[in-house]
This record gives sequence, structure tokens and C-alpha cells, in this order.
Amino acid sequence: MKILHIVGARPNFPKLAPVHKAARALGIEQIIVHTGQHYDEAMSAGFFRDLDIPAPDVNLEVGSGSHAAQTARIIERFEPVLLEHRPDWLVVYGDVNSTMATAIVAAKLGVRIAHVEAGLRSNDRTMPEEINRLVTDRLADLLLTPSTDAEATLRAEGEPANEIVFVGNVMIDTLFTSLPKAEQTGFAQKLGATGNHIVVTLHRPSNVDDAERLRTVCAELVELAKTRQVFFPAHPRTQQQLKALGIDLGGITLSDPIAYFEMLDLVRNAHAVITDSGGLQEETTALGIPCFTLRPNTERPITVVEGTNQLVHDLTTLSGLVAQAIRSVPPRRPAGWDGKAGERVAQALLDRP
Ligand code: UD1
Repeated sequence: MKILHIVGARPNFPKLAPVHKAARALGIEQIIVHTGQHYDEAMSAGFFRDLDIPAPDVNLEVGSGSHAAQTARIIERFEPVLLEHRPDWLVVYGDVNSTMATAIVAAKLGVRIAHVEAGLRSNDRTMPEEINRLVTDRLADLLLTPSTDAEATLRAEGEPANEIVFVGNVMIDTLFTSLPKAEQTGFAQKLGATGNHIVVTLHRPSNVDDAERLRTVCAELVELAKTRQVFFPAHPRTQQQLKALGIDLGGITLSDPIAYFEMLDLVRNAHAVITDSGGLQEETTALGIPCFTLRPNTERPITVVEGTNQLVHDLTTLSGLVAQAIRSVPPRRPAGWDGKAGERVAQALLDRP
């Protein structure tokens, strides 16, 4: 059996790692195609090294651009690659533009598509990722779900039961295997982060491109920084905006994006995390760290119902909420968040030659 994996953006890489490893153990032939959506060392190459993923066989080098331009470039450049390799399965991850764009190409060429992380919905079509999720799931032939709630969503949308397989959360596989390596970095200690600190990540257009929202969030962070260390490794998009708007970050430690193990070391000891990322909502739940998500909705409601996640609707309440946060010990982990999801993905593929 031959499978072709698609990755493009930072959140894809920790999802690919456990699936690739499990598929290799089962003797499946594998090809990795990187679309080049993310291209900075800290956003891409560093993850391949840290997570021991072989270098991509092909890089489409599409780079940044508007959604239409980026999606179109991926579609155009991926078609000959897929025609050349003709895999038994195209395996796509998550909800980024690379996921949707390559699924469209495969669907038209009659190559079967397996979607890892199927069935998540924010029900908010102003999010580009929601469009990517809807299109990808509609086209996919095998819907591999990360949590038990996703199947009902897919069934309600008319997907047949025999195309849906609950595999669990592959991101949590990588989290578990990486924790000892995260600890070895000693990164949190080097920064003097002793467990009383807060970690912030923000990159969604809805937060970052809205000057008023970004100013309000930063004012709350400055308030928190009066009593605790606040670490804010900022996505390139966020850095550009903070600079352009000249926002006050008094007391906050702003930095470039940080590597996966270092980030994990900082998060695993934190008092709380403030974010708009999808992955961090899940990682904090698995670790029992309070998470405050600055969004009106989440495609990962299981992290709110069963985990440590809380949506913050009124941004001016943020500093007060964070101050009262209490860690969940031991963490409550949703079903299938057990470190074996990658094995279940590989087996599901092997079962459908
Ligand atoms: C993408 C994903 C998002 C994911 C996020 C994680 C889509 C629709 N969005 O958003 O779901 O949560 O990645 O990071 O696919 N840039 C760099 N270097 C890079 C990559 C980007 O400087 O390596 C800058 C570019 O100026 C670009 C901006 O960041 O304009 C945004 O990058 P882009 O890939 O368009 O989307 P993200 O916001 O990263």
C-alpha cells in the first residue's frame, strides 16, 4: 500500500509524526508532500527535526498570499505530483488551506482521501478553517475523528457510517512522546518561569486584524503582567500587527514563535494559557492546564465540556478570569486521547487497501 501525506502549516506537523511512524511500522510506503504554506525555520523545518519526521519528498513552495491565491497555487502545483505518485490514499490533516486544496485535486483525479481530524465544526463560516473543514469532509472517503462527538456531526451532515472511524487525537500522541524531551530542554527554567507564568498565543485574523480587539487583549495582558510573567511567542502575522499599531506591551515578554519542545516545556508548567489556537485548546486539556480561548466559539467543544478550556466572550474580563484559574489534577482526558491514535489511523488505512 502507498499513501501520500499532505502537510503545509505548523499545526499539521505534530499530527503527521505519529501517523508516519505507525504506518512505517506496518510496512506502508509513504510520500510526504509539504505545500510550503509555512516556510520559516521556526514555523516548519524545526518541527521536522524535533519530531523526527523525514524531510518532505516534495515541497510545492507556495508561500503566503490571499486565501484564493494560496489555494489556487496549491491546486495547480499539486496536480502533477499526485498524477506522478498515484497513491492508494491521500492523507490530509486538520483544517488549513493545504488540507482543502489538495483534497479538491484528489477528488477530481479519483484518488481516495482520508481526513485526519474529521468532523470538527465551529459552525462559524467567517473562519477560513471552517470552510476548509466542510469542503474536506464532504470530499473525504475516510473520516478519521479525534473525539466521540464528531461522528454525530458527520452523520447529521449525511456522511455514511461506514466512512467514519473514531481514531482519537493524534496531536496528543505527539504531546505524550514529547513531554520528556520538553523537560530536557530546561527552557522554562532558563526563562525563570516557575509555574506562576502565563503563556499567550494569538494569530487568528478575527483577533489580530481587528485593532480594537487586539488593543483590548493587550491591555488585559499588561494588567496580568503586573503580578505574573507573561510569555507571548508571536506568530509572524501577530508581530506585524503589533508593530504596525504600536501597541503597548509593558511587562510582557514578546518573542518570535518558539520551537515545539520549548513551547511544551513552557506550557506544561504554566498557571494558564491564553490562546486562539486549536492545538493548544487540546494540549492544555490533556495536561490539565487552564486554557482561555479568545473566540466566540470553538470547533473543539469537548475541551470545554470535558477539559480545561473556557471561551472568553467579554475580553475585559480576561485578567480577572485568569487570576482565578485552577489547574485540573489529574487531567481529565477525552476518550481516544491516549497516545495510540496514530496507530489506529495507520490500521484504518491498511484495512482499506
Ligand atoms: C494558518 C492556518 C491556521 C493555523 C495557522 C497556524 C489556514 C487558513 N490557516 O494560518 O488554521 O492555525 O496557520 O500557524 O490555512 N508567515 C510568515 N512565515 C511563515 C508563514 C506565514 O512570515 O512561515 C506570515 C505571512 O506574512 C502570512 C501570514 O504569516 O501572510 C499568515 O500566514 P498563512 O499561512 O496565510 O496563515 P496563518 O495565519 O499562519
